[in-house]
Amino acid sequence: MQDSWQLALLDRMMAHHLAGNTTDMGPDVYRNRVDKYVRQDRYDAEITTLFRGLPVIACLTPDVPDPGDYVTLSIADIPVLVVRGEDGVVRAFRNVCRHRGACVAEGRGHTAKSFMCPYHAWSYRLDGRLVAMTHRAGFAGVDKADNGLSPIACAELHGLVFIHLDGDPADFDPSTWLDGAAGELASFGLEHYHRTETRVTTREMNWKLMFDTFGEVYHVEHLHRQTIHPLIQSNNSCFDAWGSHGRMAVARWTMNDYVDVPRDERDLLTAATLVYYLLPNTVLIQQVDHVELYQIFPDGPGRCTALVSLYAPTEPQTDKARAYWTRNLDLLMQVTETEDFIMCEQIQRSFGSGAQDAIQFGRNEPGLIHFHTTLDQLLHLETAVALPEPAGAAR
Ligand code: FES
Ligand SMILES: [Fe+2]
Repeated sequence: MQDSWQLALLDRMMAHHLAGNTTDMGPDVYRNRVDKYVRQDRYDAEITTLFRGLPVIACLTPDVPDPGDYVTLSIADIPVLVVRGEDGVVRAFRNVCRHRGACVAEGRGHTAKSFMCPYHAWSYRLDGRLVAMTHRAGFAGVDKADNGLSPIACAELHGLVFIHLDGDPADFDPSTWLDGAAGELASFGLEHYHRTETRVTTREMNWKLMFDTFGEVYHVEHLHRQTIHPLIQSNNSCFDAWGSHGRMAVARWTMNDYVDVPRDERDLLTAATLVYYLLPNTVLIQQVDHVELYQIFPDGPGRCTALVSLYAPTEPQTDKARAYWTRNLDLLMQVTETEDFIMCEQIQRSFGSGAQDAIQFGRNEPGLIHFHTTLDQLLHLETAVALPEPAGAAR
């Protein structure tokens, strides 16, 4: 039996389907200034206000399921180490040795009790305490208790691990930030999933263009005619927002199978793909039988890097099952790398050409409008960055 929100969402999607493939519409066409994608001062404000000033998803619970499991990443040029402690609590630290600044861990993996810095072998426990200094006599007067890893605010909620670079490590609760998105996300039990693989991609485009790729399905029947369009519809989607976050539900062609099926016998995830926009930089896609995660990190105004992960409901036990998830991720990467991101890099170059001051998001692209409106609100609330309006372009 489906939750009431799932049945209500299916009702809306079925109404669009029966009406002849209509879609949710925003109130107005939105003109988005292209300098938001290229200007250094806008980029600097985003790093300060969005990536350091807001909670960011560092990983999911299944990235660090057991004590000693860890993940490293770089957010806003800050090296971060996320690790589950022996007490089961997930913590985050600056991945910076207190001796001379080397990273104490690399990549992701598991360590039994501690991290040993590869440079001169100082050792830190999973809770960040410095427990061993080689050549102790050389550091007479240096107190180990004052030289633990620098903590970062970190909390785990509904299978998501949040960090907040500017937050207070002793007082951090991301539930307010997650807002109404928490209800649907909690219903998926993400904490019970298993991460099968993570791949990394770096592209020559602003980080927001990568986010925009997932913000509408208007392009699917054109750009993805051979690859995704046989699976999902291009003009039947429902968009809902909770505070800064949002969710687009995209109809699959299997919606046809439900036309004559009683309402309470329908299943949302066989008829729709759910795309969650968790600001500032995470896109979580709930597919029929698995979850895909895009974590998008800026590397400058014209460059970004994404971590792309796939999570399966259970750990695959056979080569056949592992191959199945590998093929799923292969398809996702093939479509985004060779179709979406090629297009985005072309767009990034066009933004730099001065050809136009603004692009346009249609009423049929409400997710994009919400994302960019929200970013502007967040930036204007917390910074004094005021960009001059380009001639002839209302925002
Ligand atoms: S920099 Fe880590 S032990 Fe020297
Ligand atoms: Fe696409």
